Amino acid sequence: MLGHVTDRRKAAPAMTTQVAPVDNQAFYEDIYANGIVADPAPHLEHSVKIKNVKKSFGSFDVLTGLNLNFVDDSITTVLGPSGTGKSVLLKHIVGLLEPDEGVVEVFDQDIWRISPAERQEIRKRVGILFQDGALFGSMNIFDNVAFPLRKHTRKRESEVRKIVMDRLDEVGLTRAEKKYPGEVSGGMKKRAGFARALVLNPSLVMFDEPDSGLDPVRTSLLNDLILRVHAEHGGTYILVTHDIRTARKVSDYVGVVWKGKLIHYGETEEAFNSDMPFVRQFLSGDSIGPLGMD
Ligand SMILES: Nc1ncnc2c1ncn2[C@@H]1O[C@H](COP(=O)(O)OP(=O)(O)OP(=O)(O)O)[C@@H](O)[C@H]1O
Ligand SMILES: [Mg+2]
Repeated sequence: MLGHVTDRRKAAPAMTTQVAPVDNQAFYEDIYANGIVADPAPHLEHSVKIKNVKKSFGSFDVLTGLNLNFVDDSITTVLGPSGTGKSVLLKHIVGLLEPDEGVVEVFDQDIWRISPAERQEIRKRVGILFQDGALFGSMNIFDNVAFPLRKHTRKRESEVRKIVMDRLDEVGLTRAEKKYPGEVSGGMKKRAGFARALVLNPSLVMFDEPDSGLDPVRTSLLNDLILRVHAEHGGTYILVTHDIRTARKVSDYVGVVWKGKLIHYGETEEAFNSDMPFVRQFLSGDSIGPLGMD
């Protein structure tokens, strides 16, 4: 009996290692509740800085204090469950939504402290590919891609034609120039949307689920295209996706958003090696973990 007690005392130091996960649990709970302030590469430039941004719709809090500096000339993927505020975040960066609190800084300007005309100038430097391509159904592919050039520049039609055809060539759509969005496949619409997003040579390009609705092979081809165009033209790319393979393949950095806060941010391999239960669960698509159906 006595020996048994002694054994337990001897075992005591091992208990400290057993309680460590409990401490980690508290550490992670704190991150889930309060988020992190992310700057994985403070020595690099950041054209897009999100500082403690909060946004509610009525009584529904969507962004709850999001902090994130996107690294220039890199591809950053923002991952997170449905309804967690990823598209709302992109709309803040492009100036379509105004934060209730916090600052959205794009190209070193607080975009809600400048005039609408100045905001418009910034938007010309930002290309965005919306979830469904957002093409104008009444215009053919050529006119869709030409639209930003005709609207925002005074280029002659011959110049417009040259630029649009170069962009269509880049995304493999020269033969579809006269087709209407309703006449082409989902993948072609995405590529046309990509060509349109790039047509003003933006230094910031955002993609909202470029891969949604595409089969795995077309997703892979689109990812190759994104990487190729980025390698050729550079720029800061921000990509929202649910597709973990896309995230792994194209990103330099991965940010994970949950309930309107950033809970992980770092180089891609770091995210895939993370110990944080939520990040592990999300990246492995596991049903066991902190993320439920709520
Ligand atoms: N203009 C709006 N008015 C009211 N509620 C909105 C508005 N825009 C977004 N929401 C709500 O904010 C929440 C976050 O939306 P958001 O589109 O950012 O989610 P998400 O993370 O992009 O999700 P998904 O992965 O499904 O695209 C959702 O519950 C959505 O219904
Ligand atoms: Mg979305």
